[in-house]
Amino acid sequence: MTDKVALVTGAARGIGLATAKLFIEQGWQVAMVDRDTDELNAAAKQFNEARAFSCDVSRSDDVIEMVSEVLASFGRIDAVVNNAGVADFRPLEETTFADWRRVMDTNLDGVFLVSLATIPALKKTKGAFVNIASISGLRASTLRVAYGTSKAAVIHLTKQQAAELGEYGIRANCVCPGPVRTKLAMAVHSPEIIAAYHDSIPLNRYGTENELAEVITFLCSDKASYVTGQVIAADGGFESTGVGLPALRD
Ligand SMILES: NC(=O)c1ccc[n+]([C@@H]2O[C@H](COP(=O)([O-])OP(=O)(O)OC[C@H]3O[C@@H](n4cnc5c(N)ncnc54)[C@H](O)[C@@H]3O)[C@@H](O)[C@H]2O)c1
Repeated sequence: MTDKVALVTGAARGIGLATAKLFIEQGWQVAMVDRDTDELNAAAKQFNEARAFSCDVSRSDDVIEMVSEVLASFGRIDAVVNNAGVADFRPLEETTFADWRRVMDTNLDGVFLVSLATIPALKKTKGAFVNIASISGLRASTLRVAYGTSKAAVIHLTKQQAAELGEYGIRANCVCPGPVRTKLAMAVHSPEIIAAYHDSIPLNRYGTENELAEVITFLCSDKASYVTGQVIAADGGFESTGVGLPALRD
């Protein structure tokens, strides 16, 4: 057991829920944050070591209130996993400003707001940020003008955090998941996209929520105490193969 506390956003399901579960298995306590209150409460109920905090991370006032409730409840925060995200796949020319804002509000502003509100707590514990971007933030692709741009910005925001917060002993790293069969991915991955991913990924399969959670919890742990400002793709090798022309793979 440790007395460490992790705050995980988007923890009601998917990668965030798997991360909360793995933290608990590793002896941490977890503040589970999500805007889907019903799913969040149902998810948190299964753990004695977790508490649910309903909050939309894109709303500044709500985030400030949520962080003060987490601190009132647990007394400290050692790691913040900025995982809450939304996806929107559509052609650039069909992307309205409202579509763009909806993605940026959560994927970029949410990371900024939760980070800003938790810096004082992380200074006290010399804690860690892990921000969840995507392979879509590492290279451009069709259908992802807002999503990919938001995730590329999260990669850079992580480096800014590492540069400015290192002097307080705060580490900041970024994880870029490849495809994982969550509700977010399945809403935008057609059968053709799924088949193409299988074909292009050296490990020939989607990742699992738990495989992502392993990387995230490692980066939050003391085992990664000299790792900061890094971007780790947990993607079955997708990013390392670059363009990866299918014709050259046989
Ligand atoms: N699944 C994939 O293939 C994949 C690939 C690359 C990156 N990612 C990233 O991983 C992260 C987790 O995604 P997932 O696949 O587990 O998705 P998911 O849809 O299963 O879970 C996302 C959670 O975030 C919550 N959420 C969304 N907007 C929020 C907001 N404004 N405030 C609070 N909570 C909010 C949702 O309610 C949901 O519970 C996201 O940042 C996503 O972009 C996922």
